[in-house]
Amino acid sequence: MTENQNSSLMEKVISLSKQRGFIFQSSEIYGGLKSAYDYGPLGVELKRNIMNEWWRSMVHEREDVIGIDASIIMHSKVWQASGHLGGFSDPLVDCLISKERFRADKAPTPKPGDELPIRCTDKGQAKDFQQLILKRFNIELKREGKFLKGLRVIDDSSFGFFCEGQNKPAEVFPYRGYVSPTFRSPFLSDERKFNLMFRSQIGPVDVIEDITKYIEKNKDLNRKELRKGIENIVSNSAVYLRPETAQAMFVQFLNCQQSMSMKIPFGIAQMGKSFRNEITVEHFIFRSCEFEQMEMEYFVEPGTQKEWLKRWRDTRMEWWKSFANCPEKFRYRSHKKDELAHYADACYDIEYEYPWGFDELEGVASRTDYDLNKHAEHSGAKLSYFDQQKQDPKTGKNGWRYTPYVIEPAAGATRGLLVYLLDAYHEEIVPDADGNESKRVVIKLHPRLAPIKVAVLPLVKKDGLPEIAREMVNNFFKAGINARYDEQHSIGKRYRRHDEAGTPYCITIDGQTREDGTITIRNRDTMEQERIAQDGALQVIQKRLLEA
Ligand code: GAP
Repeated sequence: MTENQNSSLMEKVISLSKQRGFIFQSSEIYGGLKSAYDYGPLGVELKRNIMNEWWRSMVHEREDVIGIDASIIMHSKVWQASGHLGGFSDPLVDCLISKERFRADKAPTPKPGDELPIRCTDKGQAKDFQQLILKRFNIELKREGKFLKGLRVIDDSSFGFFCEGQNKPAEVFPYRGYVSPTFRSPFLSDERKFNLMFRSQIGPVDVIEDITKYIEKNKDLNRKELRKGIENIVSNSAVYLRPETAQAMFVQFLNCQQSMSMKIPFGIAQMGKSFRNEITVEHFIFRSCEFEQMEMEYFVEPGTQKEWLKRWRDTRMEWWKSFANCPEKFRYRSHKKDELAHYADACYDIEYEYPWGFDELEGVASRTDYDLNKHAEHSGAKLSYFDQQKQDPKTGKNGWRYTPYVIEPAAGATRGLLVYLLDAYHEEIVPDADGNESKRVVIKLHPRLAPIKVAVLPLVKKDGLPEIAREMVNNFFKAGINARYDEQHSIGKRYRRHDEAGTPYCITIDGQTREDGTITIRNRDTMEQERIAQDGALQVIQKRLLEA
């Protein structure tokens, strides 16, 4: 696909999501909240189907995995132990020219002697930025196409403006050691701490009142001292919305293992909402502030983690591919050493080829014994496992007590929903009712993921056909199959509507149904119709869903 086709695929999926009721902008009538989305009538079904399929394959179909549903708000000490309260507190910087906001610790770091060309999007922007820099810093950089030139790093703490052919700087500015990632600008604001976790207060205490009293009493303190005092007051009742579902599985390790008498290796799975105050929200629901995760912590014997990491990487990859039209768009990527999170000794990303290129869908990490050790250290609980059958490798004696290692497949449910919508979106040229060529948009969702499994359509709204259709819909409901009665508009329009909703099967009740008790089933992908006995419709659909 070309770049244009790719960006238009994203636009088409966003537009169809709204029109057909998959995804709406949050609070749209109030101008929308950029970082949040609402899942509409079809979206909520699709999201649940994805999550239910995950639960089925990870928990119900496995003897070695159990599930939990923990609270979103946990004890604040959980986040101290996990490192989120420290680690999620990122240094943020603004570029004073482009206004780009970025993480200082991830920015490019030109070295002394390096040129610092500012890289604009086009010539027009280069002209604007040149004027801005002249006005603000009183230097006129040289324009070369979309680049602004003349700056160079002098040493670790300064960069200079050098006129053409000169070795002595005409002006010197303080240098941070890095430049902005997109525009490569060294003109930057101060660093500010930014916490990716959403903070709230628990309990009846009015924190604002306490802070006001504190400020009134401590008028002599300087800014730093005041801040420290206020932080103390806030932290007494501070709670956080979880930024990942994973930590509850570590915190409840002992309760789960003991209550269910689990033997290692075993896993604890959880799915649900997570919240991150993301610096950049991007690509529709790909990165949002509120999203859903499907995570599993698999506890293994130390030394076996490499083998289990590969097993879970392959299992998870097969799962994603099993519902896709284009399995070749999935790949995995091994993390380089400098990319690994502080708790991991190895990690694979399962990636999908989104319209903007390959990017993360799920991480499968080998988290070592880091988390259990940290929670044991902070809580005082003994988060270990005793294996009576094994010899302790250190003492050679029977019975081995150890802290299990952990393999974690951590997937995004809402990100998975975007992947399956992109994968399912198809446009085809097909003949219309008059035999002319027309465009058909069809959402080829896997039948088990499709929000509506079967639409039942009476050809006309009379002659007893609606009654037959409604009875059939009720039979589907009784069998647990999400069916939809639909009598609005012509039959052709109804087929197209359900193609766009991703409904794999349409059953039509027509005059012949009354005569000989037969109905037609239309297949969404092939558009082929077959006539079968009305009485067999439920079994046929059940069988097709099972075998899909
Ligand atoms: N417990 C490990 C963990 O949370 P992660 O890579 O930060 O790892 C796992 O998150 C998955 O959750 C990602 O692969 C992605 O699919 C999803 N995810 C993370 N942040 C997200 C966000 N802001 N919006 C949507 N999905 C997100």
